[in-house]
Amino acid sequence: MRTTVGIVGGGPAGLLLARLLHRAGIDCVVLENRSRAYAERRQRAGMLEQGTVDVLRECGAGDRLDVEGLPHRGIELRFDRERHHIDFPTLTGGRGVMIYPQTEIVKDLIALQLAGGPPLLFEAEALAVESPLSDSPVVRYVHEGREQTLDCDYVVGCDGDHGVSRAAFPAGTYRTYAHDYPYSWLGILADVPPSGGELVYARGATGFALHSMRSTTVSRLYLQVPNGTDPDDWSDERIWDELAARFAVDGDWRLNRGTITAKSVTSLRSRVHEPMRHGRLLLAGDAAHIVPPTGAKGLNLAVSDVRVLARGLIELHRTGSTQLLDHYSQLCLDRVWQATRFSYDMTRMLHAQPDGDAFDHRIQLARLRRITTSRRAAAELAANYTGLPLGR
Ligand code: PHB
Repeated sequence: MRTTVGIVGGGPAGLLLARLLHRAGIDCVVLENRSRAYAERRQRAGMLEQGTVDVLRECGAGDRLDVEGLPHRGIELRFDRERHHIDFPTLTGGRGVMIYPQTEIVKDLIALQLAGGPPLLFEAEALAVESPLSDSPVVRYVHEGREQTLDCDYVVGCDGDHGVSRAAFPAGTYRTYAHDYPYSWLGILADVPPSGGELVYARGATGFALHSMRSTTVSRLYLQVPNGTDPDDWSDERIWDELAARFAVDGDWRLNRGTITAKSVTSLRSRVHEPMRHGRLLLAGDAAHIVPPTGAKGLNLAVSDVRVLARGLIELHRTGSTQLLDHYSQLCLDRVWQATRFSYDMTRMLHAQPDGDAFDHRIQLARLRRITTSRRAAAELAANYTGLPLGR
């Protein structure tokens, strides 16, 4: 098979890129190694910055989002048994965020793609990206039991942290910056209406808790737990009791409890792979960078990579100029590092250190107090949370 842009990975980054290229008349093929059902079930944070919402609308994937998405005008910070609302529109000159599950974005993009979009192959396992420095890089993959090749002008690796694309960067051509956090998140999905209208980020006495949501009837909640935690060690009752304790405030607020339908533990990591390009192989999203989930930047970063990349490939297609494409890595990495810094700061501000360092705890409370008493400090959080502009 031959195509202009070979896209490895059919998550939100790969699907969105295919959509943007297809609308500009550039042909591409998407290879996804999992099944459609699996791709549509992958749970990820569903907080969309304005820029993410805009691009989904622009490419015709905004219809259901506009009906079912929940616009949020802020978040709540909790600490010292107090509640504080951070109001984004007043702090940012009108910006907000939208809550719409990533599973639904993927479903919407897959449906568009299968209805006359470019080819999307499920259960097509990429084995390797070859000859990225030549004019015609190749993706080798297995589909329907046969090994095949996809010859491309460009290959885009949207195949996440464990994908084969990044592995095609030879030693010495890149550097990976890494940080591991000394705690994990136990996440649950529950069939229960959210206990409030906004996401709640809590620095409870015994650690972090987050109250998020997938819809008006499904809640998503997280607890900070030690690394290596087995989710089976946490009974449903123990989870609800610990959540209630960490969210507890003076005044009346109650945590809605309901049936837990999924339970899993995720570790928290930061990774940045530089540069994001090697010859005619370009990386986007988790293939190039990982952020801890605090602040929900992962999907939004993937979408901003794809916006820059689509613009570069469209410019090349229309004018023959590689100017934008040549600056792809640099343009993206500025924003990636800002989101990496923000996610790191949010994580450090809200989680209990495993050694229970009392000094560290007081510094965290002082940071939270600063945000809730200084308009300037709150505006800085709001600007980062709702999404920084692209570029310098
Ligand atoms: C989620 O809804 O899963 C979520 C939301 C916000 C975060 C992290 C996760 O910061």
